[in-house]
Amino acid sequence: MCGIVGYVGSREVVPVLIHGLMRLEYRGYDSAGIAIIDETGNLIIEKAVGKIKDLTEHLWGKNIKGHIGIGHTRWATHGPPTVENAHPHKSRDNSIALVHNGIVENYVQLKEDLISKGYKFSSQTDTEVIAHLIEEEWDENLLKTVLKVAKKLKGAYAVGIISTKEPDKIVALRKGSPLVIGIGEGENFIASDIPAVLEYTNKFITLNDDEIAVITKDSVDIYNIDGEKLEREPFTVNWDISVAEKEGYKHFMLKEIHQQPKSLTDTISGFLSNLDNPVFDNLNKFNKLYIIACGTSFHAGLVGKFWIEKFLKIPVIVDYASEFRYRESPIDEKTLILAISQSGETADTRFAAIDSQKKGAKVLSIVNVVGSSLSRESDYVLYTYCGPEIGVAATKTYTAQLITLFLFAVYGGLKRGFISQREFEDFRHHLSILPKAIEETLKWEDKIKDIAYKYQNVKDFLFLGRGLNYPTALEGALKLKEISYIHAEGYPAGEMKHGPIALIDENMPVVCIAPEDEIFEKMLSNIQEVKARKGIVITVTDSDNSELEKLSDEIVKVEKVSSQLSPIVNILPLQLLSYYIATFLGKDVDQPRNLAKTVTVE
Ligand code: G6P
Repeated sequence: MCGIVGYVGSREVVPVLIHGLMRLEYRGYDSAGIAIIDETGNLIIEKAVGKIKDLTEHLWGKNIKGHIGIGHTRWATHGPPTVENAHPHKSRDNSIALVHNGIVENYVQLKEDLISKGYKFSSQTDTEVIAHLIEEEWDENLLKTVLKVAKKLKGAYAVGIISTKEPDKIVALRKGSPLVIGIGEGENFIASDIPAVLEYTNKFITLNDDEIAVITKDSVDIYNIDGEKLEREPFTVNWDISVAEKEGYKHFMLKEIHQQPKSLTDTISGFLSNLDNPVFDNLNKFNKLYIIACGTSFHAGLVGKFWIEKFLKIPVIVDYASEFRYRESPIDEKTLILAISQSGETADTRFAAIDSQKKGAKVLSIVNVVGSSLSRESDYVLYTYCGPEIGVAATKTYTAQLITLFLFAVYGGLKRGFISQREFEDFRHHLSILPKAIEETLKWEDKIKDIAYKYQNVKDFLFLGRGLNYPTALEGALKLKEISYIHAEGYPAGEMKHGPIALIDENMPVVCIAPEDEIFEKMLSNIQEVKARKGIVITVTDSDNSELEKLSDEIVKVEKVSSQLSPIVNILPLQLLSYYIATFLGKDVDQPRNLAKTVTVE
């Protein structure tokens, strides 16, 4: 949802901005641009429609030099992807340039005021008002002016500003959209996300909401909205830069699919070494639980409902955060909100959680990005330990969310007395062999690639599952839609006869998730129903059942794990299937059209 980066130091600024933007491209790729102050003190702005590579081509031969600048990669909200709407935006007098991630909600009113004062707008964006406002409100220096302007802005934003009037500093402000400050030696950075500047520093400060930073090459000063100086210690990130590289894989998505044995191992041990999380001592205070999330995280929540109701014995409602927020659900101090978000920045999820807190509920979040907004706003946090996920389609964070939900349910069940220590140890044993089962299942990659090749040109897919694996069907369909643009629908297999069965003919591939669990026989009957209508059956199973083999046109055998954990293994073939179909179709797997990884607008 737009990425911003900024640099001040003694390096040539353009390559630093371009590298940073490339690492932020997952946040949006409709257009990109940079603004720098060159050696003669002039402001230079360059922009291009499209991806960072288009900006790089546009910059070719221009030989722009300078040591301070800001950059932006855009996911369009206000105004289509054109050069005029691309950031950075500048003030009328050419002294100020800025980049922005978020939405200025009161921009229409601010724009009308500025137009009445003679300002002309060259874009349709909400962002341009900030540049003109800074010019209009100029008061002694950039910091003082930005403090004044910040009070006039409504909405969510992270902004980086440079000015020829004070050519040695970047001023950054934040409310609601993420922003970190990277601390170097004789150089400093701003970025929407840590990997953008990880090749230069591993020391960071997170800017909080309603804070403003003044950054020169040798100093970082942070102020609150009233201009009072704040103290903030940097934290160290112990990732190395390989986390932001493809490491030999063709795409981040493929790398991340293959990282799952490790991300699951890390998430399990991360959870088990934080069993003193205070949420577990407070579970008895809650009589209902809402899981709220978006996209893939929502699907994880659907599986989590099964485990929480079974082991923790608390009724669970799962809802899309964007729907939940605008419904009048009975929320009170006995309500636990479980907000799931890879990024911890998704606006729908964050604001739904914050609204619930205002009604007395407590918020537990499951988050991947440490220090993200949601993690700081929550009463309790459980982390997934995946490292950065760069591919727009979530893969390793989905399985890590699942394992965290499972552990939350069984450990919570132990604490509430519904599960014995022995049962808990038994689950721990099943978890300890899970990463190996994932590794073995990934060995089916070549077979899945063949299936993908065979069905790449099909127009529609149906995904069926039951019980714990009904959400697997939804997630499999979502993966395919997201990256291959093929229409796909996920459905509970038992519900198929009430409608979707009408779609089935000899051209319709139906991906059937059929683990050998207590509802296996029912699933088998549903597959019979598909076959009876000549549907193409692609089966994902851990069973050697000969009837199932006969019914299947294609079969992928996953490793057998405890049936409770089957959604974690069953999703792998579906991730690979969508990956290979999309690559055969020549789609941009890591950056699918119209999507962004982190959606900071409602
Ligand atoms: C976007 C991404 C999805 C993701 C969803 C929720 O739509 O493209 O992959 O599942 O946001 O993101 P979150 O960071 O809250 O899990």
